[in-house]
Amino acid sequence: MTAGRFPEATFVRSAASHRDFPREGLPEVVLAGRSNVGKSSLINRLVGQKDLARTSSTPGKTQTINFYRLSLAHRSFFLVDLPGYGYARVAKHVTGQWRKLIEAYFKDRSNVALVIHLVDLRIAPSRLDLELQRWLDEIGVPRLLVATKSDKLSASDQASQLRVFAETFEGGPVVAVSARTGQGCREIWKQIEQATS
Ligand code: GTP
Ligand code: MG
Repeated sequence: MTAGRFPEATFVRSAASHRDFPREGLPEVVLAGRSNVGKSSLINRLVGQKDLARTSSTPGKTQTINFYRLSLAHRSFFLVDLPGYGYARVAKHVTGQWRKLIEAYFKDRSNVALVIHLVDLRIAPSRLDLELQRWLDEIGVPRLLVATKSDKLSASDQASQLRVFAETFEGGPVVAVSARTGQGCREIWKQIEQATS
């Protein structure tokens, strides 16, 4: 979002398997994180559109990989909304499908410029959060840790939670964001622009 402008953003495709992944070869910025953490809401906030990505208070809303095409200052890239993981009420077989789809995605994509890993600022990191982080490091994709729903905490609680996250997930900064107030979005855009240029 350079100088307060929002990018052009359009929905491209929902993919349930690798056959549906787009083939344009654009850089991809990926949002990953547990179900209900706020991935789709953050996408809407980042592009300044209320309903581009579907959001829901029912966890497990996004079950396919959704590709959005963004264009900003002569630069185009895909923003990729991964289905959320780790919600207990989502049946086991769905969890298995999730793993398969996510693994197929990362195997197939050589254009991943950045993975934005979202965690809820109020909730201690789960085993799956740490697994995802380790896995991303193993496959060697750049990642940015983003802690969501910061509007629900006071400034001092935010600071202490950020310290906990920085210790738990070693390496790199942690950015506190809110899809409600827009906190942190400028920093995320900065990181996206660096990763896709
Ligand atoms: P899945 O598609 O199930 O993986 O969820 P998701 O990560 O896409 O979450 P989604 O954006 O649908 O948001 C889940 C719920 O959290 C919704 O009720 C949102 O309104 C709420 N939410 C998301 N971001 C924020 C935020 O920054 N602040 C507050 N207060 N609520 C938020
Ligand atoms: Mg979603």
